Amino acid sequence: VAVSAGNESNSVLDFPAQQETIIQHFNQITAGNIMKMSYLHPEENDYFFDDADALVDWASANGLSVHGHTFIWHSDYQVPDWMTGYGGDFAALLNDHVTTIASHFADTVVESWDVVNEGIDETEDDCYRDSLFYQRVGADYIENAFRAADAADPDAELYYNDYSIEDGNSDKFACLLQIVEGLLADSVPIDGVGFQMHVQIDSPDTGAMAIAFQEIVDLGLKVKITEMDVPLNNPYSGEPFPQYTEFTAAEAELQKQRYHDIVETYLDVVPVDQRGGITVWGLWDSDSWLLSMPERAGSDDWPLLFTAPGPEGPFAPKPALQGFGDALMGM
Ligand code: XIL
Repeated sequence: VAVSAGNESNSVLDFPAQQETIIQHFNQITAGNIMKMSYLHPEENDYFFDDADALVDWASANGLSVHGHTFIWHSDYQVPDWMTGYGGDFAALLNDHVTTIASHFADTVVESWDVVNEGIDETEDDCYRDSLFYQRVGADYIENAFRAADAADPDAELYYNDYSIEDGNSDKFACLLQIVEGLLADSVPIDGVGFQMHVQIDSPDTGAMAIAFQEIVDLGLKVKITEMDVPLNNPYSGEPFPQYTEFTAAEAELQKQRYHDIVETYLDVVPVDQRGGITVWGLWDSDSWLLSMPERAGSDDWPLLFTAPGPEGPFAPKPALQGFGDALMGM
């Protein structure tokens, strides 16, 4: 499950009820924000590890592993200003960035990383997003990052992570395949593909997901679902938005089925030794990042597995959790 920490509101480190629920139901955490570029590398010659270390220590003390997110991500708010303006050797800069962070966590419970996040743009002829990294280094920034991470932490599992690659028939998935096959052809140390899985209640269908998972499995790579959430309202459907203004028993049932079907598809298609696991992007509904997306402005949603606690907790499991669990148990 993804968690908040550091100076974020609802930090797991100051929230006993949250800790209890996580320790009971999950075995791995991801930092929802505080291990991204601008947090860990605020100035060219200054890395800041205190908040991440505190989170990793807490995970370790409670028997949880950590999935690292993420060394390289184009998102404006995560590229530090000093990096945008950097005039020196940009490839060397990224190499230092990845090497320093990967080395720092090499001997901890951080066992895997999203090495590059969201590097694809399927509307570009060559499939690469026209990010700062691409502009300064070219497509090689991706393979460079994998090689640097592997050299610094040979035991870590290294993922390429992206959104909207869950539909195996899509142009974006075709781009993913092309890029990943290229990395493999060049013997780049990539272990798997992270599917963010920010899906809609009714799309993509699980048949299309099965195609995508199978292609990655056939390449001998791991499949990890890294940021799953299932909102009820779909701002991209062309229908009046929001479609739902209340979370009724019927909606809860619909969502339970959707969580079930996605987990079932994952287990059906991905062999045990190629499963990187499944992460949900947040613990309880009202804490979901989706609620603050501009596209969803003004509408409520209920995308996660738990509802908020009362003042003392605990968090209440939703039918979606049962759907997830049923699938895990083959029911
Ligand atoms: C989101 C966080 O959840 C928000 O708190 C933040 O404001 C923006 O980033 N894809 C990713 C994640 O890879 O890092 C994003 O996380 C959600 C989309």
